[in-house]
Amino acid sequence: MIGDVRLEPARPADLPLIAECVHRFRLDDEDLAAEQFVVARERGRLVAFGRIKPYGRVYELGSVGVLEAERGRGLGALVVRELVRSFPARQVYITTDLRGYFERFGFRPIDDPPPEIAAKIARVCAPLRSGVVAMVLEKTD
Ligand SMILES: CC(C)(COP(=O)(O)OP(=O)(O)OC[C@H]1O[C@@H](n2cnc3c(N)ncnc32)[C@H](O)[C@@H]1OP(=O)(O)O)[C@@H](O)C(=O)NCCC(=O)NCCS
Repeated sequence: MIGDVRLEPARPADLPLIAECVHRFRLDDEDLAAEQFVVARERGRLVAFGRIKPYGRVYELGSVGVLEAERGRGLGALVVRELVRSFPARQVYITTDLRGYFERFGFRPIDDPPPEIAAKIARVCAPLRSGVVAMVLEKTD
């Protein structure tokens, strides 16, 4: 259940906790910047986060994490939907090993991602996780 949860832009003061979780969850820690992140706060406490990461002409929805004790309550979905809603491009790219989780939101795997996304998988994801694929969601509105 999601009770008193608010989504808002991250503040610089949130970055140490975000960075700590990013490392613990083995997420992309490249160029961590507060202005890229959205956080979910419950009664003032940060419980989930995710970001929109720019690569020049394309953007990636990434570094989505939910504190361990708060998982399975829809907080990840809340963050993903907010990032999709505010995404600055029609093509919402992600790189993930959780294909099934992201298919629920309408993402589909692609074999031919933009070179920036393919390069990111090789540079950042491969050392952290196995089975990472590129996926895209085409925004219609
Ligand atoms: C993946 C993650 C963000 C999901 O957040 P969450 O708040 O627990 O997820 P939600 O509550 O929105 O969704 C829960 C549903 O997703 C499913 N799910 C959760 N983790 C999953 C996974 N690793 N693979 C496939 N499905 C998953 C659950 O089974 C649940 O299904 P149900 O609705 O049928 O019960 C969270 O587990 C997390 O922070 N993991 C570590 C970081 C990570 O791997 N991030 C994604 C990297 S691309």
